Amino acid sequence: MSLLIRNARVLLAFESPPGCALRGRAMGDWPVLMGADVLVEGGTISKVGRGLKPFRGAAEIDAAGRVLMPGFTDCHTHACWAGDRLDEWDQKRAGTPYLDILARGGGIMSTVRAVRAAAPALLAAMLRARLERMLALGSTTIEVKSGYGLSKAAEMKMLNAIAQGAVGFAGTVVLTALLGHAIDADAPDGEAFVRETIDSTLPAVSAKFPGIAVDAYCEQGAWGLDDCRVLFEIAMQRGHPIRVHADQFNSLGMIAINTEWSARGHAMRSIDHLEATPPADLGALAATPTIGVLLPCTGFHTDGRYADGRALVDAGGAAALATNNNPGTSPCPSMPMAIALAVRFNKLSVNEAIAAATINGAAALGLHDRGAIAPGMRADLLLLEHRDERMLAYEFGDNPVREAIVGGRLVRLSRANASF
Ligand code: NIG
Repeated sequence: MSLLIRNARVLLAFESPPGCALRGRAMGDWPVLMGADVLVEGGTISKVGRGLKPFRGAAEIDAAGRVLMPGFTDCHTHACWAGDRLDEWDQKRAGTPYLDILARGGGIMSTVRAVRAAAPALLAAMLRARLERMLALGSTTIEVKSGYGLSKAAEMKMLNAIAQGAVGFAGTVVLTALLGHAIDADAPDGEAFVRETIDSTLPAVSAKFPGIAVDAYCEQGAWGLDDCRVLFEIAMQRGHPIRVHADQFNSLGMIAINTEWSARGHAMRSIDHLEATPPADLGALAATPTIGVLLPCTGFHTDGRYADGRALVDAGGAAALATNNNPGTSPCPSMPMAIALAVRFNKLSVNEAIAAATINGAAALGLHDRGAIAPGMRADLLLLEHRDERMLAYEFGDNPVREAIVGGRLVRLSRANASF
């Protein structure tokens, strides 16, 4: 199928695929074409320019000057879960910190118990409802982590349920094996659980999901620095890219490890959270190819702390932006909301937040075929209601997406709520 979108304000309009994340000043300084046309053929952008000739048999959309941009890549979510954490949210609002709830065997562990008890088909169906809602809000590529299983059987159940939930979904779902999300409070021995994860769960995941990114939560009361190091070293030997939740509440030293590995050509793909990262470490992160993933919906919901995205970008780093959709720290499916918060609290410019939510989010997943509008790129596109992209960040709480095109096809957007 061919599609011609006419008379649009085209963002991130490159002459050829950039092929990498945008860093530093380039994050805010990318090309915009006004009154331009975009021709899509067979799932790929084939031409971008003014006054493109009508293409025989092509469907046409008149953008009437509206913004046409790449679809969002939500590169950090925990969107596969069961149960809810409403009672814990009451505790949190009464003053109990997140890590205290985790230390008492709740938090992540509450969701682990609910996921272990849930039938795989229900997990897949609940995930699918959330994916549809996220797509309606403009996320055409969505990463989904495991991590609420912890045991080998339950992690495999989660990864299979995520794969199942993605079948027939119009957008792209990228799986991540979050094997080190917590120390299993229900296991008899925490140290034995860590060993079991590395010696038994990781090989099972490698066998069924080769090349999947491996992730861990490096934090007091979750996985310690040394355990993360061992898990990641063995995962890298097995060919897995590494992502890590680091410096959410406490900075334990993960950025120094990444600097060391980067010097040997083994930089992590992304370091996510960074709310507690010291300024010098943001500079060190910027000096590596690793992408820093900002999660401002987490600060909004959890405790009002935000990563200093400005310092990361000013130091020449590459920042990505994600919702962190999960029942504990960020029950938010909306990338437009993440953009609105990133501009206010991570101190990104509107252009930087747009790059973080598109091309850099895709790069954090190892995808370089999307996130910009150039001949040869995958045709995952959003036509916004707005004619000025600053509205994307200025307005919040509404959905700016008028049309979504995924793999070259106009998709019908679900307006239904994703609750069960
Ligand atoms: O990225 N902090 C670790 N993991 C998630 C929260 C998961 C949960 O609380 O269920 C996060 O914020």
